[in-house]
Amino acid sequence: MKYFSTPAPTQPGTIQSPLGRSEARWPSRSANTHGYQVLARKYRPQRFADVAGQDHVTRTLMNALSQNRIAHGYIFSGHRGIGKTTIARIVAQALNCRTTIGTPERPTPEPCGVCDSCIEIRQGNAVDVIEIDAATNRGIDEIRELREAARYAPARDRYKIYILDEAHQITEAAFNALLKTLEEPPAHVIFYDGHNRA
Ligand SMILES: Nc1ncnc2c1ncn2[C@@H]1O[C@H](COP(=O)(O)OP(=O)(O)OP(=O)(O)O)[C@@H](O)[C@H]1O
Ligand SMILES: [Mg+2]
Ligand SMILES: [Zn+2]
Repeated sequence: MKYFSTPAPTQPGTIQSPLGRSEARWPSRSANTHGYQVLARKYRPQRFADVAGQDHVTRTLMNALSQNRIAHGYIFSGHRGIGKTTIARIVAQALNCRTTIGTPERPTPEPCGVCDSCIEIRQGNAVDVIEIDAATNRGIDEIRELREAARYAPARDRYKIYILDEAHQITEAAFNALLKTLEEPPAHVIFYDGHNRA
């Protein structure tokens, strides 16, 4: 998977440095078998450490999180089913996680997985993490709407995050409209493009 990010802007965040990267102290989320989950959810990794074969991406992201070097935009590019959407969601959780990095519950920049934000993002109903299927919302009107909405502060969490899946399908005109927001977004907006061009 290839990984790109826009240059880091001035930092509004409150993410702090971790004490260390001892992954052994993390309880395994995959051990949670309570209740019913659809297969795709059940086996979707919820931590960077559980993402297989993309260490160069997850390591870079965890370093950026721990150093509070958060870019406005990230593009995850690569073949189908290698974890682009999965990683985007883990980053969203890590960014909006309420547990401070460097605490016993969250020694590393991994999301804690148990706070309200982490749970809501995992369940797909967090108000400040908006997933958009760009394949069906690819026109200028939809992008203008997104641009307008992005101007408002997050409802509750630290960042307002847009995950644009299949972002390569956005029309050229719409993409141009989006560029300005991508280049100079309000400080609380972070975009991800799930992108299928390898
Ligand atoms: N690197 C990975 N490590 C562990 N599981 C993975 C990995 N990549 C994908 N998976 C599993 O495969 C499924 C699909 O992954 P995901 O939706 O993140 O892929 P994608 O790259 O966004 O695919 P698409 O191009 O179709 O959007 C997920 O349920 C996830 O559990
Ligand atoms: Mg995807
Ligand atoms: Zn959390």
